[in-house]
Amino acid sequence: MGILDQHKKIETNVTLLLVLSFFVVTIGGIVQIVPLFYLENTIEEVEGMRPYSPLELAGREVYLREGCYVCHSQMIRPMRDEVERYGPYSLAAESMYDHPFQWGSKRTGPDLARVGGRYSDEWHVQHMIDPKSVVPESIMPSYGFLMNREIDGQYIADLMRAHRRVGVPYTDEMIANARADFRAQADPDADHTGLLERYHGAQTRNFDGQPQLTEMDAIIAYMQMLGTLVDFTTFMPDESR
Ligand code: HEC
Repeated sequence: MGILDQHKKIETNVTLLLVLSFFVVTIGGIVQIVPLFYLENTIEEVEGMRPYSPLELAGREVYLREGCYVCHSQMIRPMRDEVERYGPYSLAAESMYDHPFQWGSKRTGPDLARVGGRYSDEWHVQHMIDPKSVVPESIMPSYGFLMNREIDGQYIADLMRAHRRVGVPYTDEMIANARADFRAQADPDADHTGLLERYHGAQTRNFDGQPQLTEMDAIIAYMQMLGTLVDFTTFMPDESR
């Protein structure tokens, strides 16, 4: 009996065909899935990444609440036109403390993954209050009301605990100091030693120029750090993985 005749047996017997197909798919599945359970991490670790500071995290909440992701992506694809326009392509590690991630799926406005440091705080304040005043053809809505929404970090420690539950490595010390760090970051006169030890490179200043702490401070603190943690002048991708 030739091999084709043997195969005919399988093709003409539905039950046998199903049993054998199931067997093949199971092996294929196991081979793909099981290694993932033994990998410590599927994300290449990158120097510079740290969890968001309390104020940045609060700014990120405003970003989510206001639906900025509906018009803005935060993911620079590894293609020449993207890299030339926005900077080095996004690394998986750069989103690893984002729950949920903010890659987005639509660009009505530009990608924001590396907007940090591209504009001054004053530009951001002006742009958020009246986008057309700085970019005449803009169709972005005004978010000037954020200037009037005062915040005091009342629930920031709870939010950090929630993020810790899903894997963000906030330490007990970070959570204990959450509210103090929250206020200190936007207060140029505060002692920033502890804050900077806990969140290296955190930018400390009065972001919106008003004496009181507002959601505008938080969202600008968030935007000004986006894409700035990894130093791409020294970053080398790990080709061994
Ligand atoms: C309806 C769509 C829309 C929404 C919602 C939106 N934007 Fe925009 N955004 C735009 C467009 C269009 C531009 C480009 C024109 C301009 O600079 O205003 C832009 C530009 C920007 C820029 C300048 C980026 C650059 O590289 O020049 C920033 C920063 C920004 N938006 C932040 C935000 C934030 C923060 C939110 C949420 C509070 C938001 N946007 C919500 C449409 C939107």
